[in-house]
Amino acid sequence: MSDTLRAAAFLDKGGTGKTTTVAHLGVALEELGHEVLLVDLAGKQGDLAKHFGVWGDYQARIEADEAWPNISTVFDDAWGTIAEKLGDDTLADLVVPTAEGPDLIPAHPGLDTLDAELGNIDDARERYSRLEQFLDEYVDPLGYDVVLVDLPGMTNNVAYNGLWAARHVITPVEMGPFEAEQADALRRDLGKIADNFAVDIELTLVLPNKVDTRTNLAEEYLDAFESEYPDAIAPDYVPYSQDIRNAAEHGQTAFALQEPSTTARRAREAYLDAAETLVSRLGGDHGG
Ligand SMILES: Nc1ncnc2c1ncn2[C@@H]1O[C@H](COP(=O)(O)OP(=O)(O)OP(=O)(O)O)[C@@H](O)[C@H]1O
Ligand SMILES: [Mg+2]
Repeated sequence: MSDTLRAAAFLDKGGTGKTTTVAHLGVALEELGHEVLLVDLAGKQGDLAKHFGVWGDYQARIEADEAWPNISTVFDDAWGTIAEKLGDDTLADLVVPTAEGPDLIPAHPGLDTLDAELGNIDDARERYSRLEQFLDEYVDPLGYDVVLVDLPGMTNNVAYNGLWAARHVITPVEMGPFEAEQADALRRDLGKIADNFAVDIELTLVLPNKVDTRTNLAEEYLDAFESEYPDAIAPDYVPYSQDIRNAAEHGQTAFALQEPSTTARRAREAYLDAAETLVSRLGGDHGG
């Protein structure tokens, strides 16, 4: 058995900070001494690769037809045969290093049709477990400490694959009534999966994001999330930080900033605390 830990960022809602969370937790985990692989299943726009400034190069590879195999190839019926032919180089061509530490399997335009293709697989277990098979057979032997998967902001076959493979969900939530509802819906959905497939998928880290504590309402929502998810709530919230937004646009996380603002520094602390908590909740007990 491999001891690679896995978690997937998911909420059936766009823009709450899934990609930002995966990027920052990835770097935080590296800072804590863990080897991290990030997997982008969130759509062909390549947000995670953009967050690390490596999308331009990867896009050039895609356009030159050199991004093969890629994240969509590993879901293919023929993946086993492809991997066998590629042999030792299988993963070398899939994985891109980043300057901030984590390795990355970037998104690919092939993700566009993946949901429909998976829908053609009759057997539900087979339909939802392709990513798990790939991670088990090809990624775990590489010895990463943690694999984080970024998922689309909607419930579809691709998202199910991420949840199924990781069994642990990270949910960034904004402080609003709609987000509270979405988090409840997610918890119910995970319960249904457990009932239907006898697969336990746990809400492992609820991370309040973009929090502006100058408003009383934010404090109220923080309290509400804390009492609603006592076992999953993160030790600290991530504040709203314009620095995070700006850094992302320059292909960096807040950890790469030379002169971080107060909010960016607070965010870094929150991500480091969250990363430590995540590892312990995933059952990992030792740092690097
Ligand atoms: N703590 C924060 N402070 C300020 N801006 C933030 C913060 N977290 C995320 N953002 C910004 O919010 C926007 C949405 O974040 P992100 O792309 O991570 O969300 P997402 O859930 O991955 O969205 P999608 O569902 O579209 O994939 C981005 O512009 C990001 O830079
Ligand atoms: Mg995203």
